[in-house]
Amino acid sequence: MKTLIVYGSRYGCTQRCAGLLEARLAGEVTLHNVSESDEVDLDQFEQVVIGTPIYMGRILPQVSRFCQQHHDQLLQKPLAVFVCCGFPDKAEAQLHSAFSQELLAHARFKDTFGYALNFEKMSFLDRLIVRMVSKEKSSQSRIDEDKINALAALMNEK
Ligand SMILES: Cc1cc2nc3c(=O)[nH]c(=O)nc-3n(C[C@H](O)[C@H](O)[C@H](O)COP(=O)(O)O)c2cc1C
Repeated sequence: MKTLIVYGSRYGCTQRCAGLLEARLAGEVTLHNVSESDEVDLDQFEQVVIGTPIYMGRILPQVSRFCQQHHDQLLQKPLAVFVCCGFPDKAEAQLHSAFSQELLAHARFKDTFGYALNFEKMSFLDRLIVRMVSKEKSSQSRIDEDKINALAALMNEK
């Protein structure tokens, strides 16, 4: 089975989740960072995973563009989507603002994989926003490996 994991990531959490998933998947897996290139031939892959972080209630514009550009092709393949976000209680709403209704209805897995806050890497403005909104002051990682395992198990099913 050839799998494509498409992701965007500003500070590395979504990239790490994509890597953790890759390590758990059987078959040939290709990681595609949408910030590095727009070009990918979906015809080469049998199933697709899309991962994105949420910033200010929105997904990364590059991921959004990828979904728009490849919308019809994505509807033709087994699809899973995940988001990294600091407010899991808003995950459902954020998934719906992130992906089209058609893509969400088509996806056989849609969930959050947790989040990380990396103050060392963050821009001044992003640090300020996080401190104002969440009162968090130190870097932390709350990646939910059980959910990554659950998606891997689903995708590895014959
Ligand atoms: C400036 C800023 C804004 C954020 N806005 C949201 C938000 O609106 N909703 C949310 O659930 N998480 C929000 N987060 C948390 C990120 O989604 C979380 O840190 C995620 O793991 C980042 O992934 P990345 O390292 O792959 O970019 C925000 C984080 C920052 C730094």
